[in-house]
Amino acid sequence: MNVTEAINGRHSIRAFLPKPVEKEKLDSVLLASVRAPSWANTQPWEIFAVTGDTLGRIKESYRQKYADKAPAAPETPRPAGWPEAEQKRIQQLRPDMERICGASVEQFADLNQNMFNAPAVVYVCMDKTLSEWSLYDIGAYSQTFMLAAFEQGLSTIPAITLTLFPDVLRRELKIPEHLKITIGIAVGYADKGNGINKFVSAREPLGETVRFFE
Ligand SMILES: Cc1cc2nc3c(=O)[nH]c(=O)nc-3n(C[C@H](O)[C@H](O)[C@H](O)COP(=O)(O)O)c2cc1C
Repeated sequence: MNVTEAINGRHSIRAFLPKPVEKEKLDSVLLASVRAPSWANTQPWEIFAVTGDTLGRIKESYRQKYADKAPAAPETPRPAGWPEAEQKRIQQLRPDMERICGASVEQFADLNQNMFNAPAVVYVCMDKTLSEWSLYDIGAYSQTFMLAAFEQGLSTIPAITLTLFPDVLRRELKIPEHLKITIGIAVGYADKGNGINKFVSAREPLGETVRFFE
């Protein structure tokens, strides 16, 4: 598999098989991911890779939180609003999903709330005092992780919903106070029988986002 094949082949998977991720595969993906670029090689990512009983306890606590209607408190807060072009694309996502693979809003929410039934989640944290510059590095790390996982036959989804209840994550993973939980990436084997995984999101034509000069 070459890089272009991995870039084009990766897409977010929202339903995983219960099959565990082999430790060696996860190790090799984590090893590849640290080759991501970062500001002055600061490597600001602090990773908490979670599987097995620990992930099981987190999922159970999240279920309880949803049942109690506990308020979500992601440490990367939602923006107050979106500019028009981005808002238009957000509004297109769910209808596209419904049209292309028949996934309902309820199914989407249910899979999100159940952590996509993923057998592994990697939480990417960084020091709370770091700025947007380092968040850029976290993004580079995350995409490197997802492409390396794809090469190993693993599927992924980066999801803010995995981070909605930081108190649970901090308790189970002993995440130190000075770290901020930026994103969770679910990892595992795609449930190909689940229609939601057939959804591949659209992209704007290049003319919409690229200004070319010569
Ligand atoms: C920072 C970030 C947070 C995301 N959070 C969620 C989420 O909470 N739930 C979800 O279903 N998808 C989530 N996604 C996945 C996006 O919806 C998805 O990446 C986007 O629609 C493009 O589709 P693709 O990843 O299949 O190419 C997130 C993606 C990113 C980069």
